[in-house]
Amino acid sequence: MCITSTINIIYVVRHYISPDNNVFMMSTTSRTGDSQTNTSDNQSGQRYGLFDETYQLFLQTFTANFMLILEHQNNASLYCPSIPPNLQGPIIIHEPPENFSVLNTSPYYPEVQHGGRYHPKTCLARHKIAIIVPYRDRWDILRRFLFHTHRFLQRQQLDYRIYVCEQAFDKTFNKGIVMNSCFKEILNLEPNTICFIMHDVDLLLIDDRNMYTCPSYPRHLSVAIDKFDYYLPYPELVGGVLAMRREHYILVNGYSTNYWGWGGEDDDMHKRITNKHLILERPPASIARYKMLKHTHQKLNPSRMKVLRTAHIRIDSDGVNNVKYKLLNTSFHHLYTHFLIDVGEQKRH
Ligand code: UDP
Ligand code: BGC
Ligand code: MN
Repeated sequence: MCITSTINIIYVVRHYISPDNNVFMMSTTSRTGDSQTNTSDNQSGQRYGLFDETYQLFLQTFTANFMLILEHQNNASLYCPSIPPNLQGPIIIHEPPENFSVLNTSPYYPEVQHGGRYHPKTCLARHKIAIIVPYRDRWDILRRFLFHTHRFLQRQQLDYRIYVCEQAFDKTFNKGIVMNSCFKEILNLEPNTICFIMHDVDLLLIDDRNMYTCPSYPRHLSVAIDKFDYYLPYPELVGGVLAMRREHYILVNGYSTNYWGWGGEDDDMHKRITNKHLILERPPASIARYKMLKHTHQKLNPSRMKVLRTAHIRIDSDGVNNVKYKLLNTSFHHLYTHFLIDVGEQKRH
């Protein structure tokens, strides 16, 4: 298209400088649809019959191409800027005001649609993401997470939706089952979802330059957490906040469902990522910074190291392709969509 346009431009310019032709007179006549063809038109018609036809054809092509270029430019400018203009860098964490309620419609987030969905109103978001928050029995932490997280995601000009995936009943937590079932339920609800961010509820981002965009490869976002003095404790860690495309989540078969209680399921995920030869991306530790909210500790899983040693054997047979769970309830609150999940009875290893 570019080459054609260039040829057309050269043609029109040459035509314009030719003393016998008045391009703009001709084009004006045709634009106004004026039937009183003027003398110069008639004359040039007589003098350059075939030449004029070719010229008209070129002019039409030129106009059509020019319109296409304009349309393309208009569309391109509809997109939000690649660097959102209102990013703050380091963020101060504000406690939610007393009247901030998780369940009721929040006056603090008038632009969030019911179900915890948002998209920028003045431009087209470049990235659409689903945030999976595994959850059980940390109400105050969830409240603080929602108050904090909606704000910076909006500044990042993303099209996003927050899903809180709650394990039902007071039994040992199984993060793998919660994540996999949530992944499946999101796809039932919104089958076109392509990008996921698995996000611990107790992690609050403290630098909004750490963008929650859709990654090309799995991207570990929580590199520097205050609890670990802002250092990555070991290179294989992918726990905390992990962004993944749908196709990669399916390729690694999601999380293992064999870790009951604290620890191991994220180390198992790292094995899956490397086993499937995926690159693991990480933003620089200087911006991928988080505060971890204080919480009660889960029961440590005493067999996690044993299960981890044989993790590679189970990649294709244990995960999102055969996860067993019951979806007990789905509800839509202002600031999030809620799935209540029964993960079943604990299996001993
Ligand atoms: N989680 C939860 N309730 C629980 C256990 C875990 O909500 O009883 C979720 C929550 O999102 C939490 C994540 O699982 O941030 C990881 O668990 P935890 O914070 O206990 O792990 P740690 O930070 O100690 O590694
Ligand atoms: C556990 C992981 C945990 C990490 C950091 C490891 O020993 O297996 O599940 O994320 O420590 O706390
Ligand atoms: Mn935690």
